[in-house]
Amino acid sequence: MTRTPKGAELEDKSFCWDDRVQPGRVHRSLYVDREVFDLEQRRIFGATWIYLAHESELAESDTFVARRLGPRPIIVTRDHKGMLHALINRCTHRGAAVCRATAGKARYFTCGYHGWTFSNDGACVDIPLDDAYGPAFEKRDRNLGRVPFLATYRGFIFGTLNPKKGEQPLTDHLGPAADRIDEWIAHNGGDHTKIRVAGAQRFLVNGNWKCIYDNAGDGYHPEYSHQSLLRMTQERHGEGMDLDYFAGGIDATPMYSQALGNGHTFIDQRPCMFESSVFDRQRPQPGREAVAAELIRDVGEQRAKAQLETVPGAGMNLSIFPSLLFIGNQFQVITPLAVDRTDLSWFATSRDDMPSGVNTLRLRTQEDFPMFGEVDDNANFESCFDGMAVPEMEWVDISRHLHTGVEKVDEAGVVTAPVSSDLHMRSYYKEWKRLMSSEPELVLG
Ligand code: FES
Ligand SMILES: [Fe+2]
Repeated sequence: MTRTPKGAELEDKSFCWDDRVQPGRVHRSLYVDREVFDLEQRRIFGATWIYLAHESELAESDTFVARRLGPRPIIVTRDHKGMLHALINRCTHRGAAVCRATAGKARYFTCGYHGWTFSNDGACVDIPLDDAYGPAFEKRDRNLGRVPFLATYRGFIFGTLNPKKGEQPLTDHLGPAADRIDEWIAHNGGDHTKIRVAGAQRFLVNGNWKCIYDNAGDGYHPEYSHQSLLRMTQERHGEGMDLDYFAGGIDATPMYSQALGNGHTFIDQRPCMFESSVFDRQRPQPGREAVAAELIRDVGEQRAKAQLETVPGAGMNLSIFPSLLFIGNQFQVITPLAVDRTDLSWFATSRDDMPSGVNTLRLRTQEDFPMFGEVDDNANFESCFDGMAVPEMEWVDISRHLHTGVEKVDEAGVVTAPVSSDLHMRSYYKEWKRLMSSEPELVLG
């Protein structure tokens, strides 16, 4: 049995992860060990660019959203001058949260414990009864901690605590994945300033965060995991509906899976999904016919049809390592809370350049899969995690299409494989191992 490494042994920079991340399998300790989880919070979630918030959530000055960078509570703010900040939501007095709301408008945050007050750029501006701290005490030494490096790619705000990463362009980190984000935006009208976060559905998963990232690029599971959804759709509405292209020999379809470098991965459903009208492919939705009829009346049949075709989704599963996942017209954010607890939030989007009826149908679609499909996925995440507790069965298999010789590499280093491949897991574990093998010098601004 591979011995499970512990504490100081893992911390040692010379510790070699090769025993635990092997070509076709990974060790269960990566999922279930608290020590591995704690290290990940520095070496992964502290060390690389992590998605924090979308610019549309902070469109006005003096707005904020509460998020996490790994387990660190963060408030992402836009101050009254329009500058973005990512502040550590931890009072510099005793550690309480200075902001207990999830989103809103605020120029100042007052800690509920003893009333210390901070402005939305992080400065400590008021301390009740501060004459008791002595003559050398300075409020400016008690400013909130901040994520020192922020960068935005087409509306998506990322942060890092690692100067080595933060001093490099975000686009270096995204690499070819930036082109895929561009395609997602192109599907959504091409102007990212018109794409708006329109609420979130939150799931609390009793499992390790990587169980979710494992699934984000998994084209193998839909026919089996989502069988009830596929069968219900077929029995009620017939062939050629919804995700039925996942039923049968999926590797013979034109769908494919890609490793984009730096742990980012991609599944392209578009060749199947857009073969014919994708709007016609959808299951019935309340109000659909009425919205379509009104649109045709307002803008004519051709334009109405084009607008309705944007409702169902982009046909892309794009995973930005380690925690941002594009799926349909939505994106998901994975937030690790503990080794066995993960927040999975689905952020719905709407478009400012679309009639309200189109946005209404778009939202109905964005409720559909999280309600009918994500429940299957969450049951699998928790079940895999439960199974990983068996000490005598140490390995998690990631070998699908490893030995079939079908992977192709292009000049940019992008690897393409059949859609059912485990390429996504092999590729992100390569980046995981690289990051876990060195201790970054993390800083707070
Ligand atoms: S913990 Fe915030 S004021 Fe005391
Ligand atoms: Fe799924």
